[in-house]
Amino acid sequence: MHRVVIMLAFAGLAFGQPVQYLESKKIFLLTTRQNSYAFGVGNDGALRHLYWGAPLWRADDLSAPAPRRDVSSFDPRQMMEAEEFPGWGGPRYYEPALKITRDDGGRDLVLRYASHRIEGNELTVNLRDINDAIEVSLIYRVYPEYGIVRRHAIIHNSTQHNLTIESAQSAVWNLPAGEGYQLTYVSGRWAAEDQLHHEPIYEGQKVLESRKGHTSHNFNPWFMIDAGDAGEEHGAVWFGALAWSGNWRITVEQTPYRQVRVTGGMNSFDFAYPLKPGDSLETPAFYGGYAASGFGSASRMLHRFERDEILPGGASSRLRPVLYNSWEATTFNVNEAGQKELADKAAKLGVELFVMDDGWFGARNNDRAGLGDWVVNPQKFPQGLKGLIDHVNSLGMDFGLWVEPEMVNANSDLYRKHPDWVINFPGRPRSELRNQMILNLAREDVKQYIFGVLDKLASEYNIRYFKWDMNRSFSEPGWPEAGAADERKLWVGYVRNLYDIIDRLRAKHPKLEIESCSGGGGRVDLGILRRVDEVWPSDNTEAFDRLRIQEGFTYAYTPKVMSAWVTDVPNMNGRAVSLSYRFLVMMQGALGIGANLNKFSEQDTATATRMVATYKRIRATVQTGDLYRLLSPRGDDVTASQYVAGDGRQSVLFAFRHAQQYQTAVPAIRLRGLDEKAVYKIEPVNGRPAPGQQQQYSGAYLMNNGLNLGLRGDYDATAVILERQ
Ligand code: DGJ
Repeated sequence: MHRVVIMLAFAGLAFGQPVQYLESKKIFLLTTRQNSYAFGVGNDGALRHLYWGAPLWRADDLSAPAPRRDVSSFDPRQMMEAEEFPGWGGPRYYEPALKITRDDGGRDLVLRYASHRIEGNELTVNLRDINDAIEVSLIYRVYPEYGIVRRHAIIHNSTQHNLTIESAQSAVWNLPAGEGYQLTYVSGRWAAEDQLHHEPIYEGQKVLESRKGHTSHNFNPWFMIDAGDAGEEHGAVWFGALAWSGNWRITVEQTPYRQVRVTGGMNSFDFAYPLKPGDSLETPAFYGGYAASGFGSASRMLHRFERDEILPGGASSRLRPVLYNSWEATTFNVNEAGQKELADKAAKLGVELFVMDDGWFGARNNDRAGLGDWVVNPQKFPQGLKGLIDHVNSLGMDFGLWVEPEMVNANSDLYRKHPDWVINFPGRPRSELRNQMILNLAREDVKQYIFGVLDKLASEYNIRYFKWDMNRSFSEPGWPEAGAADERKLWVGYVRNLYDIIDRLRAKHPKLEIESCSGGGGRVDLGILRRVDEVWPSDNTEAFDRLRIQEGFTYAYTPKVMSAWVTDVPNMNGRAVSLSYRFLVMMQGALGIGANLNKFSEQDTATATRMVATYKRIRATVQTGDLYRLLSPRGDDVTASQYVAGDGRQSVLFAFRHAQQYQTAVPAIRLRGLDEKAVYKIEPVNGRPAPGQQQQYSGAYLMNNGLNLGLRGDYDATAVILERQ
């Protein structure tokens, strides 16, 4: 109902068509419910950015890009013009969107408007170099309901000569002229991903990137920028997220001329992509948006968009099941009897998907052998996997299996047979991180082989879910068979073939679901999210650490895909928090359990069973509702998040106390997103209402006065379900 109203409001709207072209001024205006984006063709044929901000409804208000003058011989006009997609050519010294070298060594590239086409919500603008037929199509897709514009470019060599691309970016996002902007982004490392930063943007460049072949734990490919005045629920926020799981780069740049620009796409580091006459290169999608009401509203826009438009199956994809994963309980020591025992216990807790992790194949008893040999280990599983899978299915659970298809150990049959399949520089030392090497997926034979292995497993067994792991970064990225000129195509070819394998697998096995894991959060981005149902944000499952990881994660990604396991204590940092604290942390995403169930006491089992049942009651709200980050784990000693169901009937508040001091009471937590006029029934999840807590409150009271939760001591946690009456 809600959706229909929005659609009608949009259809009859004052904003006009999502894509408008004003011929008289040569201006393109892209409009969604939440924002507008405009650019135009200058008299010289260059594309110049005009506007990015709150919705505009009248293209006529905009003027053709004004001609600028050189300020000095050191400050040419090109540096003051906000170009939409600048080639590296002429006197341009900022980060280019495209840089090429022609066969004859010529490197100047000045792009001019050639033509355009509008088809529904999609605009294609074709550019061409001033001298030769190097062509670029800029593609803009508008998602009117979601406030998102998708941009990417296709670079086409229509000349008679070879050329090499040295930098291929997807888009340049120009912010309104000014200074004082702040950048929000995440950085991290293995087991400490998604640490959030807000910092001023100064003149010069700030580079967020991966040179590691995969998305990486160190930075994640999204940005948010505000004018220095935004908070969680107020202030304008411009944002973007790149859909690429290989080497990527986002350059945030403040020029000396009061311009902030964000250029993003494939990383130009070690990049060389030859294009023969007739060849093309397509850059990854770079999604962007503008939110009027703070970081929270920007995140909610991204979450909705991802759920409906990015994830496989979109809005009709199922809610994520509660899963059990055996890794932290057994590591490599898996066998049929042990897994069956865990499955029996998991089923009793209400688990719906049982995933067997590493160690089930080849000679894989530790991380030194067997990787690449995807045959069931006969000692561990004498009847193959069927016995275990049938057992899991008979308990009413689906079965999932861990795989790491891109890798080999040197000690494996696959490596002995195909030593040439691994990425390497011949004659040079080879780094074997975690004792493993990377198969060169850019090779057609390797791609076919990996598809074949996974297809066979999915065809032979009733496997509902692959946990697709990737446990090391690239190094020595050689591809000798490709030849010197083409060898660096590996950076792009690898990712494209990875995507292709998953796409084909999913097409052939429509019920198959996939989790993206790369030693935790090393492969989380909108490119892989088009193809997977869940991601593993971090190998760090320590509940208190997770609060910050989950906060950073939800800036860009929906809680629906945020796999979160309850594991044993003491965990990382030697910390031991209660089982209900661990559950409440993990119930804020796609709940899983990774604890050793053989060690559960009766009381643990009772707590876990109750928490899983509660999670099932609230999971639609958590996974598909609106998230409000009320109190940040980076701030005080209380963290609080609230989820509001799409239809507004249910809301859930989670709150965590870190370390009480001086007997200080937790202040009332003010909720958001409720109906002021409605009355809500309050139900504490852990059966512990705060002193004096009533059973019902109005939305107005909950949002303006707030709710007292009575959290005390160290690592106390609670959650409250609110049902609209
Ligand atoms: C790294 C993953 O992040 C873990 O969850 C586990 O699957 C191990 N790999 C297995 O080797």
